[in-house]
Amino acid sequence: MRVAVVGGTGRVGRPLVEVLRRAGHDPVAVARSTGADVVTGRGLDGALAGCASVVDVSGPSWLSARAPRDLERFFAAGTDRVAAAARRAGVEHHVVLSVVGLDRIAGPPLFAGKRAQEERVRRGAVRTTVVRATPAHEVGADTAALTRDGASARVPPLLLQPLAAADLAALLARVAVGPPRGLVEVAGPRTEDLVDMARRTLAARREPLDLHASWRGTPFGADAAGEVLLPGPRAQLLETTFDSWLLDTWVPG
Ligand SMILES: NC(=O)c1ccc[n+]([C@@H]2O[C@H](COP(=O)([O-])OP(=O)(O)OC[C@H]3O[C@@H](n4cnc5c(N)ncnc54)[C@H](OP(=O)(O)O)[C@@H]3O)[C@@H](O)[C@H]2O)c1
Repeated sequence: MRVAVVGGTGRVGRPLVEVLRRAGHDPVAVARSTGADVVTGRGLDGALAGCASVVDVSGPSWLSARAPRDLERFFAAGTDRVAAAARRAGVEHHVVLSVVGLDRIAGPPLFAGKRAQEERVRRGAVRTTVVRATPAHEVGADTAALTRDGASARVPPLLLQPLAAADLAALLARVAVGPPRGLVEVAGPRTEDLVDMARRTLAARREPLDLHASWRGTPFGADAAGEVLLPGPRAQLLETTFDSWLLDTWVPG
């Protein structure tokens, strides 16, 4: 099956393109660096020609520091452009990657963008699957990189159920070549504390950084405390734990 992967050069998109290729499908990576832009529409008709399915994993990551309004505009315009190009190309299934918890709290700026994206994709003429996922195992170290100030960084004491980007890519590939499913929720196998994840990832990478557990100066407010970012009871749980990801990714030998 020919499948367009919008954002097919990113952290989730690149392994998704690989999984589809290994399964014998014909993935097309769609990104500005491959000649298409979801905001302006440039190159989308050509990229989606002959595709039966389109999976949109484009856009800034969970920790984007851009303003909520800016992210709403990005995802609204981008999703409308992709949906319109998908309809013109006769695509049968439009999949978007969203985030767990966006219906419970205002959340970090990305959540506003993802709410706009979910609303727009459901309005489109093509049948859809929204995959709401928890963040990837890299999120602890990514948060520290975002808030770093010299030799110290702040990380909010969040409870999460993170997943491996490779597991998410495999799940998205199965969704993309199957029938539209409406809404799917997906998470990693275990709950983790973001401060602990950041500390352990930085230690494994041998990056000394003085970490402070704090909500201040991070993309999160205290409304993200408690269990609001955890998946619901019907979520599909993926396999790779944070511990095994850390060992495989960062511990030599
Ligand atoms: N567990 C997770 O990782 C997770 C969970 C839930 C949701 N998500 C969502 O999944 C999406 C991708 O996350 P990621 O970590 O893979 O991000 P990433 O590594 O930053 O990749 C973003 C991708 O989007 C493309 N892109 C950006 N602006 C574009 C534009 N105007 N037109 C076309 N393509 C554009 C980028 O390529 P170019 O720069 O070449 O355009 C790149 O391929 C994000 O929306 C994120 O919120 C991820």
